[in-house]
Amino acid sequence: MAIFNLNINGKSMQVDVDPATPVLWVLRDHLDLVGTKYGCGVAACGACTIHLDGNAVRSCVMPVSSVGGSKITTIEGLSENGDHPVQKAWLEHDVPQCGYCQAGQIMSASALLSNNPNPSEEDIDNAMNGNICRCGTYLRIKAAVKTAAQ
Ligand code: FES
Repeated sequence: MAIFNLNINGKSMQVDVDPATPVLWVLRDHLDLVGTKYGCGVAACGACTIHLDGNAVRSCVMPVSSVGGSKITTIEGLSENGDHPVQKAWLEHDVPQCGYCQAGQIMSASALLSNNPNPSEEDIDNAMNGNICRCGTYLRIKAAVKTAAQ
């Protein structure tokens, strides 16, 4: 076990965990930030996507010892009141079906748009194709990303 000082959603947080613990489990089990979901555990589905210094990353394969002082943002910290443009577009297009993958989808989409405010179709596909949705909401996801980009 070791103590780690983390910067999560603009707040300093401290955890005492095994250094190999994936950030996903630090968030969910130690900090009660359960908006970030577990799907596969091997970086293959995107359910666990968070931002690390503004970039979309898979928290299930990222040991807590590797993040250092980087800024972590989870779905809980994406906006104050659920009013991030991507979240508003998600509501407008009624994107979720079961909802399980959607936090990861929104984190990938918001990272895309902060790094590339006017993405092409190909940019959207490239940014989003690592996020799996078993309900098949892909068409609504794409429409919402385009709305958020306007
Ligand atoms: Fe991390 Fe699937 S749970 S990518």
